[in-house]
Amino acid sequence: MSLYDKIPNNVDLSRDERLKRALEKWQPSFVNWWMDMGPEGYQNDDIYLRTAISVDAEGWATYDHVKMPDYRWGIFLAEEKGDRSIGFGDDATRPSFNEVPGEYRNVLRRLIVTQGDTEPASVEQQRRLGHTCPSLYDLRNLFQVNVEEGRHLWAMVYLLHAYFGRDGREEADEMLARRSGSADKPRILQAFNQPIDDWMSFFCFTHFVDRDGKYQLAALAESGFAPMRRTCRFMLTEEAHHLFVGETGIGRVARRTAQLMKQDPNGDARAQGGIPLDIVQRYFNFWFSYGLDLFGSEISSNASDAFGAGLKGRFREMDKYTDHAITNDMMELDVIRDGRVVKEAVPMRNALNEVLRDEYARDCERALNGWNRILAEEGCSQRLRLPDRKFHRHIGSYAGQWFDPEGRHILDEREWEAVKKAALPSEEDYAYVRSLMVPVTQPGAFANWISPPQKGINGQSIDFPYVKFVRS
Ligand SMILES: [Fe+2]
Ligand SMILES: [Fe+2]
Repeated sequence: MSLYDKIPNNVDLSRDERLKRALEKWQPSFVNWWMDMGPEGYQNDDIYLRTAISVDAEGWATYDHVKMPDYRWGIFLAEEKGDRSIGFGDDATRPSFNEVPGEYRNVLRRLIVTQGDTEPASVEQQRRLGHTCPSLYDLRNLFQVNVEEGRHLWAMVYLLHAYFGRDGREEADEMLARRSGSADKPRILQAFNQPIDDWMSFFCFTHFVDRDGKYQLAALAESGFAPMRRTCRFMLTEEAHHLFVGETGIGRVARRTAQLMKQDPNGDARAQGGIPLDIVQRYFNFWFSYGLDLFGSEISSNASDAFGAGLKGRFREMDKYTDHAITNDMMELDVIRDGRVVKEAVPMRNALNEVLRDEYARDCERALNGWNRILAEEGCSQRLRLPDRKFHRHIGSYAGQWFDPEGRHILDEREWEAVKKAALPSEEDYAYVRSLMVPVTQPGAFANWISPPQKGINGQSIDFPYVKFVRS
């Protein structure tokens, strides 16, 4: 088997003997991890997957039925024209760098490891969902997301192996050693240790948590470190599909719930085997708050350092802004002082996590409006909401404080317990949603709690056999 077949790449791997050997050594560990921790029970089946074969804008993807272990996980960096300069920070307009400057080594390694760790984590979280798929279309989408998260791990591991020597190799091994939800070796970020045992959680995860990934990758795609910028740029093209799966998945649930409410004499979706909107709302409250946490503290010197170093920019830094130094601007934030919420102005560079979180929250609002439009179209007068950004936070200024979903500061613990109980999914909610999760594997058929998509994948019909089961 040629090297390209084994590790497809556009980084001229065959010309770098040391790197090639390191990656060839890591690869069997990756495959072992995939077989142990990847989707449970479907490794032998033929899945209609999109595979990256090159990076040119028109034809980077091919679609075919393949077995997941034969998916061509590879290393692809987006092409760039001409020489680029650093776009922002203290060294703006100097040529962008192709090696890691010593003084930025730690900042950069931390960014890569944190991003990289999320990729296998989500595969682990989702590994049992196949058994309860609402359709073959959805099953295929799940597996597409899973194999691409595997490829995203490759993208980050490439950077570690290529630019961080022995430290990088050790970090790459650790990526396969940590486990989502494990007591002794958990994944780095909390959202990636939460169980995803039902498809409503999966859609919320791909909507709210993968969307954090989009904004992190977009900020890194502005980087002055060229290999980082180029790899993140290509990852974003894959990430778009994950967000599509989440956003349309929730939209299809909203549509079906509204239809079932219409059918029921008492307007009760639950009586008709649907997911009632109050449960959907509690899932939003849970996942939106974890999504917000992923952006880190409101006031952050790490964010300032990464910007100053030209490593991590703002969302669409080069298109959207003219001032790329932001040395004088301030941002007003709600912070807690002496147990109370007060406004405080902080230097913009220290508030960049919050700036990115603003972009994310706006995008979540946009999607929310779309779901509410679907409810209106189906004649339903109820609406879904996003909780206040201070609600149920575990990271940053609001961690350790209590707020209700409307943003009211709560000082009494008993009151908070009651608010939390009403606002977050209960064991009973989870049990009910799980009770709806019966597998539907007839081509073109869909579980009762979700409506079919508007169209199939890659121009195929909705009843296309997206997954072909191979009896062993
Ligand atoms: Fe990813
Ligand atoms: Fe993703």
